[in-house]
Amino acid sequence: MSDPTGTEAGRPIARHTKLVGRALNRAVVRAPVLWPILKRPMRDFFDRAAEGWDERTGAGSSEHLAPLAAGLLHVKPDPERALDLGTGTGTGALLIAREFPRVRVRGIDVSEEMIRRARRRVGLDPEGRIAFRVGDAAHLPYDDESFDLVAQLNMPPFFAEIARVLRPGGHAVVAASSGPSTPFYTPSSVLERRFGRLGFETVQSGEAGAGTFHVARLPG
Ligand SMILES: C[S@@+](CC[C@H](N)C(=O)[O-])C[C@H]1O[C@@H](n2cnc3c(N)ncnc32)[C@H](O)[C@@H]1O
Repeated sequence: MSDPTGTEAGRPIARHTKLVGRALNRAVVRAPVLWPILKRPMRDFFDRAAEGWDERTGAGSSEHLAPLAAGLLHVKPDPERALDLGTGTGTGALLIAREFPRVRVRGIDVSEEMIRRARRRVGLDPEGRIAFRVGDAAHLPYDDESFDLVAQLNMPPFFAEIARVLRPGGHAVVAASSGPSTPFYTPSSVLERRFGRLGFETVQSGEAGAGTFHVARLPG
């Protein structure tokens, strides 16, 4: 697989990186049935990419996190249980924990190497509100209605699973650090349509820094 690494701090994302990432993202959105074929190369790629990920992508930087942070401003009331899909090295999960002081956050990723690095960050969470595990957003290892916030940053959306694990009244936040230049980018029009089919209403979509965000809510 080529290099769909999300954002690359301070550098334009290579054209082939963007194209491969967009093709993968489109395949997952339009034909999730293809995911079992794509899963292994995706996981292997991110296992290899994990070393030096934060330095290369600026994953912990305010620029990288800006659209997720902007989306979280529209999540009301404060969630008690949150899930960060495709958490990578866990920076999105930590942001959620900072924004909502009482939330318990779970971060999940198919890549073991990414999760290994995310777990190292748990030292920054002395209250033990954050935990990470290896798992697949296409088949989440959680019961129905387990969360009142499901967020994802720079990650293809698996709509049916997001809807399944959200409680009524829960929010989904989908963000992309570089907007349409993000390899794993889904336009707001597509998010609105696909979430809408599952009964979600759009709360807000917009831009923050170089990125974009979309917030949808399941009626309570
Ligand atoms: C571009 S990275 C983004 C990581 C992090 N959210 C960030 O912005 O730094 C995409 C991440 O999603 C993970 N991923 C891709 N498909 C996944 C799936 N179906 N389930 C869980 N994680 C997945 C990859 O392993 C990778 O760590």
